[in-house]
Amino acid sequence: MIVHLHQAAFPDALLTRLGGSFLEQYYGILLANPNHIFLVASDDGKPVGFAAGFGDPSGFYALLRSRKWSVIRGLAPALIRRPSTLLAVGRNYLWARGRTSEPVGASAGELSSLAVHPGHQGQGVGARLVTAFLARALELGWSSVAVTTDEANNDGVRRFYDRLGFRVTGDVKGRTRPMVEYVKAL
Ligand SMILES: CC(C)(COP(=O)(O)OP(=O)(O)OC[C@H]1O[C@@H](n2cnc3c(N)ncnc32)[C@H](O)[C@@H]1OP(=O)(O)O)[C@@H](O)C(=O)NCCC(=O)NCCS
Repeated sequence: MIVHLHQAAFPDALLTRLGGSFLEQYYGILLANPNHIFLVASDDGKPVGFAAGFGDPSGFYALLRSRKWSVIRGLAPALIRRPSTLLAVGRNYLWARGRTSEPVGASAGELSSLAVHPGHQGQGVGARLVTAFLARALELGWSSVAVTTDEANNDGVRRFYDRLGFRVTGDVKGRTRPMVEYVKAL
């Protein structure tokens, strides 16, 4: 269900191109990390959006690396279908490896996925998810929440984070396309 929502909200993103079995592994690892937040918005009992993230980002990326064999198993079908994806995977792997050594602090948190089903976008679901995510992060003692999004051709999403009080901290180096990081201090 979360995998389907992710695929519907991010039809062209790299994680989606890596396939459903990879997304299952990815979100399974995120949930296995004790320091996570995972919120689902529903309409009439049907999930229409979710917000997911983790505290202590370097700890999460280290966990991801320690589970690399299950990640690779999840990736295999997509790599067999489209071997060229391997290049983007390698770049993102190097980026994630760099994240484990960044001194962002164990109390910092990251909103790593925010998705609202296209049929429910523009109705306030995303803003409610982020507001609830920030409230939970505060309860957990996180000092800030960071989110990374596309730098270019992404005015709507960037306005969305601006309005919710996030501020740009800088460009994100080493990703497959230009990205920018927003942070909200708690
Ligand atoms: C970005 C997203 C989570 C926002 O959730 P939402 O429920 O549509 O947003 P809300 O209704 O709470 O707020 C609407 C505002 O979000 C922004 N927005 C961004 N993408 C939007 C979209 N596809 N549809 C409507 N609003 C969008 C607009 O600034 C809008 O403000 P406006 O009414 O002044 O134009 C959602 O559109 C989505 O899942 N998009 C695809 C995945 C994505 O880009 N996720 C964020 C990656 S970091």
